[in-house]
Amino acid sequence: MRRKIVAGNWKMNGSKDLSEKLVGYVQAEAGSLDNGVEVVIIPPAIYIRDVLKQAEGAVSVGVQNVGQWQSGAYTGEISSEMAKDAGCDYVLVGHSERRQIFGETDELVAEKVALVVASGLTAIVCVGETLEERESGLAESVVSSQVRLGLSAVSSGDWKNIVVAYEPVWAIGTGKTATAEDAQAMHASIRSVLKEMGAPAEEISLLYGGSVKADNAAALFSESDIDGGLIGGASLDAKEFISICRYFPASS
Ligand code: PGA
Repeated sequence: MRRKIVAGNWKMNGSKDLSEKLVGYVQAEAGSLDNGVEVVIIPPAIYIRDVLKQAEGAVSVGVQNVGQWQSGAYTGEISSEMAKDAGCDYVLVGHSERRQIFGETDELVAEKVALVVASGLTAIVCVGETLEERESGLAESVVSSQVRLGLSAVSSGDWKNIVVAYEPVWAIGTGKTATAEDAQAMHASIRSVLKEMGAPAEEISLLYGGSVKADNAAALFSESDIDGGLIGGASLDAKEFISICRYFPASS
């Protein structure tokens, strides 16, 4: 059985006040979700303690990034061991903003994934093509290569700690979403790449991200290879975020 996950990535947004109000609402509502969805909140690292306290165990918590080392003289960095120590279950790795703004490569993603799974945390590994790549007909090959390289260091016992998030770069924060059919086609392609890599592909959760909102979540989540969502902007609105969690069909 694949985990059904809706994860809210706050990016560099939020405050102590938002942590209290938003997480307070989500905590109160999460208990009434009857569709088996796991709700994850991924705030800026400095608010992890506040979110954990407010969530009272009703949601899981993740960190948006970790360094490629476990400790040492790397001012400003945090490690996956620290994320675990602080109470996180998830780590985002290779978000397109990390790739595009901070120059993260597939090789670096692979190093970080190895450290995250070694810490016993689950890596949500982000992949996705740019608009130019899609328009040139390269979307599938770009994503396939990101999956192969980014997950190249995962050993057979560690696949249970891997989630893949397909986030077309042109859909992030733009209001443009992939159609449910296009997203499903890419998810099916990712699952076949995972199979070729020897991974237990049917057991790995694949999330879609990129302008997911309450009004498009139901169509996306009803596709057979879409096991949840990675939500940016809409996760900063408590009601919208919970609505997205509710759109998960109970039967899938
Ligand atoms: P968005 O962001 O929902 O605001 O498009 C998604 C993401 O970057 O994870």
